[in-house]
Amino acid sequence: MKNMIRSQFVLAAVLAVASSICFAQDGAAVYKSKCQMCHGASGTPSPAMAKMMGIKPTSDPAMQALSAAQVASTVTNGKGKMKAISGLSDDEVKAVSAFFKTLK
Ligand code: HEC
Repeated sequence: MKNMIRSQFVLAAVLAVASSICFAQDGAAVYKSKCQMCHGASGTPSPAMAKMMGIKPTSDPAMQALSAAQVASTVTNGKGKMKAISGLSDDEVKAVSAFFKTLK
């Protein structure tokens, strides 16, 4: 009986880890198709993009200070020179915003 409870606990832990990995991959995929062309593969825009459009790298303190909710709001509503990104579900916006916060 004790063993069964333990194995269920282990299974739950494995599932929790697996789903968080899937979540991150989803965000990465959305980033790649919807953000990368302006923000760069790792969150640092190309120098030309940075200069022309005024995009800060994710390492910038102002970018670091944004919460995932603020990132999500920029994606859905746009901000300054960045237009709202269309064609994303709420879940995809959430996933890509969380992923954006992992870029340094
Ligand atoms: C067409 C180019 C383009 C695409 C695509 C794009 N961005 Fe941006 N993004 C910009 C520009 C330009 C700015 C700077 C806006 C400004 O300050 O005027 C910006 C700024 C931001 C900011 C900072 C907003 C703030 O509060 O200062 C975040 C966060 C951001 N983008 C996230 C994303 C995410 C996430 C995606 C993908 C879902 C994305 N962007 C796709 C051009 C783009």
